Amino acid sequence: MELDKAIQNRHSVRKFSNKKPDWRTIIECLDASRFAPMAGNIYTARFIIVDDVEKIRKIAEAAQQDFISEAKYLLVVCSAPSKTLNAYEERGKNYYKQQAGAAIQNFLLKIEEAGLATCWIGHFVEEQVKDELKIPDDITVEALFPIGYEFTKSRRKSKIDLDRILYFNSYQNKKMKNPVRGD
Ligand SMILES: Cc1cc2nc3c(=O)[nH]c(=O)nc-3n(C[C@H](O)[C@H](O)[C@H](O)COP(=O)(O)O)c2cc1C
Repeated sequence: MELDKAIQNRHSVRKFSNKKPDWRTIIECLDASRFAPMAGNIYTARFIIVDDVEKIRKIAEAAQQDFISEAKYLLVVCSAPSKTLNAYEERGKNYYKQQAGAAIQNFLLKIEEAGLATCWIGHFVEEQVKDELKIPDDITVEALFPIGYEFTKSRRKSKIDLDRILYFNSYQNKKMKNPVRGD
């Protein structure tokens, strides 16, 4: 699939069919996360694939979002930030969060290309997820991704126009210098 198509077609899916994805496809999609940029090339993202039905149900509870328990697989994205925090101190806090996002987006585009479906879940009680999956204290849970096949094709949401979010040379300046006249 072309990159543009994957970017434009990706959308959040909250209703999954009964068909179980091949876990190897999920691993292939996740492999793309390794190629995301990381400050100092220190890789902070960590991943847990969960297929235990009871664990997925408990995590759906921790997120207070029932549809998660319908998914056959749940990907839990974590960060192991200690090396980045040691290297970059306060700034490192931003870095490891941004890096998780970069790793996640690579994964989301591959999921789209593979014909699978997911939804970024950022609302959950972290301690409950950590307890369920025996995640150590120094590891942060960034996001959850229930994975399956889309039940029925849903409508893509309309997206913001570039014109509303792009400025030139200073914040909120909407005009680019005229390259000929220089004004
Ligand atoms: C950081 C973040 C947290 C999110 N948390 C949730 C969530 O807890 N539950 C949910 O159903 N969707 C969640 N979403 C998905 C957004 O609602 C969704 O991306 C947005 O409505 C745009 O729709 P689209 O993904 O189909 O383009 C989250 C997305 C992001 C990026």
